[in-house]
Amino acid sequence: MTAEVLIFGAGAVGAFYGSLIAKTGTPISVICRSNYSAVKSAGFTITSPQYGTFNWSPTRVFSSADAARAANVHWSYIVVTTKALPDVSDDSALLEGLVGEGTAVVLIQNGIGVEEPYYTRFPAAYVLSAVTIVSASQPAHGKISHNRWTRINIGPYLPSSSSPSSSSSSSSSLTQREKDAISKTDEFTDLLISGGVKDAQAYTHQKLQQVRWHKLAINASMNPSSVLSNGSTNASMSLDPELSIHLKGVMEEILHTAPKILGAPFPPEFATSERILRSTQKNDSGSRPSMWGDWEGGRPMELEVILGNPIRIAREKGYEMPRMQTLYALLKMAQRNRDTARSGGSSKL
Ligand SMILES: NC(=O)c1ccc[n+]([C@@H]2O[C@H](COP(=O)([O-])OP(=O)(O)OC[C@H]3O[C@@H](n4cnc5c(N)ncnc54)[C@H](OP(=O)(O)O)[C@@H]3O)[C@@H](O)[C@H]2O)c1
Repeated sequence: MTAEVLIFGAGAVGAFYGSLIAKTGTPISVICRSNYSAVKSAGFTITSPQYGTFNWSPTRVFSSADAARAANVHWSYIVVTTKALPDVSDDSALLEGLVGEGTAVVLIQNGIGVEEPYYTRFPAAYVLSAVTIVSASQPAHGKISHNRWTRINIGPYLPSSSSPSSSSSSSSSLTQREKDAISKTDEFTDLLISGGVKDAQAYTHQKLQQVRWHKLAINASMNPSSVLSNGSTNASMSLDPELSIHLKGVMEEILHTAPKILGAPFPPEFATSERILRSTQKNDSGSRPSMWGDWEGGRPMELEVILGNPIRIAREKGYEMPRMQTLYALLKMAQRNRDTARSGGSSKL
C-alpha cells in the first residue's frame, strides 16, 4: 500500500522535505495557514543550489486540520513542521482524528521535549523524532529558498524502552511495538533518501536525543545571543572577542550537562564547542539565526523548547545551567514587553 504523507505546517522545512519525498511518487498532502491561498493556486516553488529550481504541487492542500479531517484519509506519516511553541498552542491537539492506527507522527522541529505532547496524547501512534541542520526559509508565501545543507537524522521516540541504545529492529530485547517503531523510522528515512536527501540517516532513540542536545548547544547559544545583541550574524558573534567567550560558555554548559541527563557521553565524532566556533567563524554567508527573524517580525520565539524545557529537565535531575537560565529570563521578559507594548498596554515589572 502506498504511504500517504501529511505535512502539518508546510513552511520552509515542511515544504522542502515534502517536495523531495514527492519525487518518489509518494502522495504528499499539506496543511497550510497563511500561505494557503498561494499554495492552493500555484503550489510551491523551491529554489536550491543543490536541487535547482522546481515547482511542486502537493496532492492535497488543506487550509486547516479540520479540512484535513474532512478528507478522511488514513495517514501513514504526519510530519509536524510547525514552529514548536508550547507556550502559544498545543499543536498535538490539532492532530486529534488525523492520527490513526499505525500512523507515525514525525517531528522535524528544533529544541528539547517536542515529542512529549504527541507521545502522551497518542499512545497508540508511533512518534519519530527528527533533527535537521538544513538552512531554508520562505521569503514569500509558497516560495521556498533552500540555502545549504540537507542533513536530517531520525530516531524512534522510545523514552521508556529498556533497550534505548539497540540499533536493530531484530534485537531480541525489544518489544514488537519498539521493533515496529524502528521499522517506521527506517521506512521514513528511505523515503527521504529515495527523494534525494543523501544524508538522511536513521538513529536509535538514544543517539537521536544526543543529536537533539548537541544541536541545542548551537541553537541555545547563537539564537538568543543574536536577538540580545540586536541581530548579529552567527559569524560576527563567533568572531567577537567577548561574545565568542559567551557562546562557548553556553555550549560548554549544555555539552557538559546533557551527558549527565542522557546517561551517556556524546559520541567522539560530535563536534566540540571549539570546532563549532571555528566553523561558524569561517561561514561568512551573513546568516542570522531564525529566532532573530521571529523577534524582528514580532512573532513568538521558540524560547520554551530551546531554553525553558532544557533548563527544567536539567533542574529535575539536580543540575543548574545558569547561562541558559539568564538568556531564558531576559528573553522571556523582552518578548512579554514587546507584545505588551504592541497591544497598547504597559508592561508590569
Ligand atoms: N528553517 C530552517 O532552516 C530550520 C532548520 C532547522 C530546524 N528548523 C526548525 O524546524 C521547525 C519548522 O521551522 P520552519 O523554518 O519551517 O518554520 P516556518 O517556515 O515558520 O514554517 C512553519 C509553518 O507552520 C505553519 N503553521 C503553524 N501553525 C499552524 C497551524 N496551526 N495550522 C497550519 N499551519 C500552521 C506556519 O504558518 P504561518 O505562516 O501562518 O505561521 C508556517 O507555514 C522549527 O522548529 C525550526 O526551529 C528550521
